[in-house]
Amino acid sequence: MTHIAIIGGTGLTWLPEFEETHREELVTPWGKPSSDLIHGTLYGAEIVFLARHGEKHTLPPHRINYRANLAALKQAGVSRIIAAAAIGGIRADMGPAKLAIPNQIIDYTHGRAGTFFEDNLDHVTHIDFTHPYSQGLRKQLLDAGFRAGLRVVDGGVYACTQGPRLETPAEIVRIERDGGDMVGMTGMPEAALARELGIDYAACAIVANWAAGKSKEEITMAEIEENLLRGMADFGKLLESFFKVP
Ligand code: HPA
Repeated sequence: MTHIAIIGGTGLTWLPEFEETHREELVTPWGKPSSDLIHGTLYGAEIVFLARHGEKHTLPPHRINYRANLAALKQAGVSRIIAAAAIGGIRADMGPAKLAIPNQIIDYTHGRAGTFFEDNLDHVTHIDFTHPYSQGLRKQLLDAGFRAGLRVVDGGVYACTQGPRLETPAEIVRIERDGGDMVGMTGMPEAALARELGIDYAACAIVANWAAGKSKEEITMAEIEENLLRGMADFGKLLESFFKVP
C-alpha cells in the first residue's frame, strides 16, 4: 500500500517523471475528491497523486472538497502528504519561483467545511495545531532541498485567503502586519484536516508572483504560469532528492 501522497496545486497538476500505474476512483462519506487518486512511481518510490483543483484545473480554491480529498487519501492508506502550494511572496526573500517550506499558518478563509469533527460526536474534539505542519516531514523536505543544492526558504507564515481573486495591496499590508510571509488560497483547511486524520502533512510553497503591491507591476496569469514552471522544475529536483535518500 502506498503511504505517501503528493497533492498538486495550480501549475502543478502533473509531475514530469511520474509513471502512472493505476487509478482509484473513491467516494468518501464527505463526497468525491477533486480527482481520481493516481497511483504510480516517482523517482523509484511508490506514491499517490491528487490534483487539488481537478485534473483539468476547474475547481477554484473555495469549491474544493477538502474533506473528501483528505478522507480519500486516508482511505487509500496514506500517512504522509507533501502538498505543493502556489503562493504570492510577501517577505523580501520570497521572490518569484522560489521554494519555501512554511512552518506556520494564519487562516483568513470563511465558509469552508473545515473539520471532520462536527456531527454525531461522542465528544467534542480539538486538535493541537501548535505546529500546523509535521516537523519531521518539514525537515526531510529541507534536507532534500539542501542535498539538491537548492536555496529553499526554511519557515514562514502561510496566510490563507479565500480567493479566487487575488488580494488588494491594503490586504497584503494587513497580512504582513499580522505576520504573514506568503499568501495562498488552499493551505486551509487542508492542513487542519490532515492533522484531524493523523496524517503527517507538510507543504512546499512555490512563489508564483510578488503579492499585490509588492512590485510595481500588476499580476498577470502569464507571469504566474512562467514562474510556476520554473519553480516546478526545482520542486521536481527537491522530490528527486527526497525520494533518493542516501
Ligand atoms: N495570493 C493568493 N494566492 C496566490 C497568489 C497570491 O498572490 N499567488 C498564487 N497563489
